[in-house]
Amino acid sequence: MRSYSLIAPAKINLYLEIIGDRPDGYHELAMILQSIGLADQIDVHSISTDSIRVHCNHPQVPTDKSNLAYRAAELMVRQFPEAFAKYGGVEITVNKQIPVAAGLAGGSTNAAAVLVGIDLLWKLGLTQSELEDLGGTLGSDVPFCVAGGTAIATGRGEQLSPLPSLDNIYIVLAKYRSLEVSTAWAYKTYREQFGHSYIRDSDNLAVRANAVHSGAIVKAVVNKDAGEIAQKLHNDLERVVLPAYPQVLQLREVFANQEGVLGTMMSGSGPTVFALFESQQQAEQIKLQVREAIIDEDLELFVTRIITHGIKVVSSV
Ligand code: C5P
Repeated sequence: MRSYSLIAPAKINLYLEIIGDRPDGYHELAMILQSIGLADQIDVHSISTDSIRVHCNHPQVPTDKSNLAYRAAELMVRQFPEAFAKYGGVEITVNKQIPVAAGLAGGSTNAAAVLVGIDLLWKLGLTQSELEDLGGTLGSDVPFCVAGGTAIATGRGEQLSPLPSLDNIYIVLAKYRSLEVSTAWAYKTYREQFGHSYIRDSDNLAVRANAVHSGAIVKAVVNKDAGEIAQKLHNDLERVVLPAYPQVLQLREVFANQEGVLGTMMSGSGPTVFALFESQQQAEQIKLQVREAIIDEDLELFVTRIITHGIKVVSSV
């Protein structure tokens, strides 16, 4: 095969707790990550020249080395030079549906798709765990994007423990098109403002004194109890993003005041806010109500649902 088309789903954070700071500058996290139906399509194609080319339908997405999908291809070239010599270069086409810099892992899921696509193009036969390990060197969310579904993520976010799949939960996502939040800024600001709440344990690891604890929401996920999951949504980064970005706070408040919303939370480092529902009909209804409550053409709203997979091949030629 010379070409593969892959679906690269976005994710939301049902839970994001910052446990402590790490010597490598990252933060020790406890998260529950969830794949959602909103997805990009990635086409990977072998080309005769020995180059990497990226195309994207979205004007804001770079096509050079600053694009994580490009860096994923570069990583594969470095790791597997013989396959690169045999099969030639790679052309990557990204059809973007996931909002950029949104807290939905759009870039990470594109990188995950490139790893999976090149593994197939070059007939490398890598295991999922090998692909996840490669992904972890590109970004903290990339391993989850390879695996998908529902998972607990610890460490930087790259250590995964799968949870039972959820289904029948519908989502409205809301994001201001022109509003972007830097993930690095959000974590740095959190550290500056709340870093004092860390203590050192006997192994000299940073741990948080007033931990929130993910036990209750993990139990709700295991019980597939959508109402309980929605009650236990949590995101520590809201503590820095909501005060700095009043529009995000407003979205949270507008969702919270609508009847039928099971729960609402910011995803990742934002600025996307999501709300959970028991039915698609309710989700569509609330989308209309939010559109009426906030008259602003900059506001994007999506209805989607929880899904059970990560990167998926849809066709090969
Ligand atoms: O891993 P990734 O490149 O996606 O992370 C983006 C930025 O978010 C990092 O440069 C870091 O500033 C911050 N981050 C963090 N702790 C994590 C994950 C990300 O501080 N566990």
